[in-house]
Amino acid sequence: MMNRGRLIAAVSAAVALAMAGCGGADAPSQNSGSTRPSEASIKRAYTMKCSLCHGSDGKLMASKAPDLSQSTMDLESRIALITYGKGTMPPQKGILDAATIRGIAEYIETFRELK
Ligand code: HEC
Repeated sequence: MMNRGRLIAAVSAAVALAMAGCGGADAPSQNSGSTRPSEASIKRAYTMKCSLCHGSDGKLMASKAPDLSQSTMDLESRIALITYGKGTMPPQKGILDAATIRGIAEYIETFRELK
């Protein structure tokens, strides 16, 4: 079934919304940068903006993208690279907010396999 993944994602998003829904469920909250985006929104941003080249586990290596599981780059350098882009990697400045970029930079560290 083609749409199964999408359906499951939609259902779990709805469940997450329901659980978070104590105080006014208005439009999707714009992040001011001071509060940390949810894990789910960070993963969603990664899936939408990064997995095309890096894959869901960082190892896809499409469009000459390096394997993120082998990356040794430190957090601040990753934030800068994600913000401003490099080579064929597109900059996220103005597309993702700073807190989301930081969240993604932390999230991709979970892909690491280096000891
Ligand atoms: C169009 C394909 C593409 C997309 C989309 C993309 N990247 Fe990249 N990424 C690359 C390429 C190519 C490089 C190598 C850049 C270079 O060194 O010239 C790279 C390098 C990196 C590196 C450095 C790894 C290292 O140790 O050298 C990180 C971290 C990274 N990308 C994270 C991300 C994140 C996070 C996103 C989503 C916001 C993303 N990338 C989206 C292609 C992409």
